[in-house]
Amino acid sequence: MKIFADTAIVNELKEIAHIIDGCTTNPSLIAKSGRKFEDVVKEICKIVNGPISAEAISLDADGMIKEARNLSKIHKNIVVKIPITEEGLKAIKQLSKEGIKINCTLVFSANQALLAAKAGADYVSPFVGRLDDIGQNGMQLVEEIVKVFKNYNFKTEVIVASVRNTEHVKTAAMLGAHIATVPYQIIKDMIKHDLTDKGIKRFLDDWEKVPK
Ligand code: E4P
Repeated sequence: MKIFADTAIVNELKEIAHIIDGCTTNPSLIAKSGRKFEDVVKEICKIVNGPISAEAISLDADGMIKEARNLSKIHKNIVVKIPITEEGLKAIKQLSKEGIKINCTLVFSANQALLAAKAGADYVSPFVGRLDDIGQNGMQLVEEIVKVFKNYNFKTEVIVASVRNTEHVKTAAMLGAHIATVPYQIIKDMIKHDLTDKGIKRFLDDWEKVPK
């Protein structure tokens, strides 16, 4: 499974660039970076060697198409995020014909994922944490989408998004999702284990006892 970083903070991306396979942003993450959209996206393209999602904010298909064409000119790795709406599906259909990479976002049902894949989206992003937040089971949605895509050999890749903890990442991998997009701190948490730290300490303490 590929790991993308779900952040627009360039210092975080620099630190974990050797671990990640790509990056996702959204308007909230861009706002959190405190920087201009185009500036931060251009800088991310220099740091991350893989797909970089940048979101269109128009609500109508023509506006989304225009934004997507402009965003895709920034760098070959840009993937444009388009929400799953009626207008979004029109835009995805057109943009996929033009070869512009699309990540269909804000996916909360397997039917939405199916329609996005049929329209030609390269990626779909089910938001597992936001489903868990309302008492539903986000990972069950991932299982459903992975199964539907396998049934029909869709090339569309599943990006598990809105990841809240390391369990989400592990379950995504066990379910066969193609990608998880993971916040910086959770990537750090994935590396750590108390027994690893204790094991290193014990080995170093014992090493002191070895005759020199
Ligand atoms: C990534 O593509 C999504 O926009 C992001 O994971 C959403 O996360 P959130 O639900 O924590 O805002």
